[in-house]
Amino acid sequence: MQIRKQAIGIFIGVICVVLAIVWLWMPRTKEKKELKIGVSLYSDSDTFVDSIVSSMQEQAAAYEAETGCPVTLNISRANGSQREQYDQVEQYVALGYDAVCVNLVDRTNASSMVDLAQSEEVPLVFFNREPVREDILRGENVYYVGTDARETARMQGEAVLQSYAAAAEKIDKNGDGILQYVMLEGEMGHQDTILRSDYVIQTIEDGGVKLQKLDAETADWMRSRADAIMEQWIAEMGDEIELVLCNNDDMALGAADALKRKNFTAAVFGIDGTPAGLEALEQKILWATVDCGAKEQGKAVFGIASALGMEKELSKEMELTDGRYVRVPVRARIHESIFLSLIHISEPT
Ligand code: GAL
Repeated sequence: MQIRKQAIGIFIGVICVVLAIVWLWMPRTKEKKELKIGVSLYSDSDTFVDSIVSSMQEQAAAYEAETGCPVTLNISRANGSQREQYDQVEQYVALGYDAVCVNLVDRTNASSMVDLAQSEEVPLVFFNREPVREDILRGENVYYVGTDARETARMQGEAVLQSYAAAAEKIDKNGDGILQYVMLEGEMGHQDTILRSDYVIQTIEDGGVKLQKLDAETADWMRSRADAIMEQWIAEMGDEIELVLCNNDDMALGAADALKRKNFTAAVFGIDGTPAGLEALEQKILWATVDCGAKEQGKAVFGIASALGMEKELSKEMELTDGRYVRVPVRARIHESIFLSLIHISEPT
């Protein structure tokens, strides 16, 4: 009897020791009671980036309502200063934020930010301004959300081809079979400026429409600068300008402002699908734009930051390319009167 009691005692003791060892070795996941996400933006105002941020704010409110977990989404703006942006990220890390989302000022200069976040194990989500691949791969929880810039350009080019097929006489004002164009480019060195400017031309030429470049200039994504440049071009070249290719909607709207003021016409094409861009499309102020999915981009940025910030797996729905990239799908939006003319020209007479 005594021996049996001793055996039971030893058995219970061994079980307790085993359980204690297992408990000690179990990975500790902190039960987080709130989610704090820091966001640093490259500029004090940028229409497209601001619409990505609005989508993140909507996502944060929905997350809070769904999970009951309070979310802080702190937005700071670096006003074009890489130094200021680094300080903002450093501050978020020091304050124990769960994840940091960065819209880089200088996209070639992300390595120190990655090292900083990595040293404190804070996940980083870059968006809209793409760091070089080596910087993305420098840290473990480092991601990028954006679009495929070539695809946005290809769609803008396709929109020009479709418009030309449907209404050549309206675009090719002098009827010489060549489209005389000017191009308003975004910020120099930005991946979207470089790729959009090249691939739109390639797409149009590959589609068999001849182009003649009159001029190209950077308006830094800005409506007011594009307006001033376009006004200058109108003064110099007037009606010679048939096509205005713009790297984004804000610059397309600026060009349209100048054309309207000076009472000239030319076919203006944008990219982004901002609310103002889509409204201008409705009114046929723009011939086409490419919707770059600001809402989906905001959803993906918040989705990654919230999952990693709460030390959870990324949602299975998150479609990753090369393990670290989310490229949201883009859609061409062409003014419907062009499709109406397409239907019209394909009807037997
Ligand atoms: C581009 C967008 C521009 C501007 C820029 C800022 O993708 O088309 O409108 O927002 O990003 O990085």
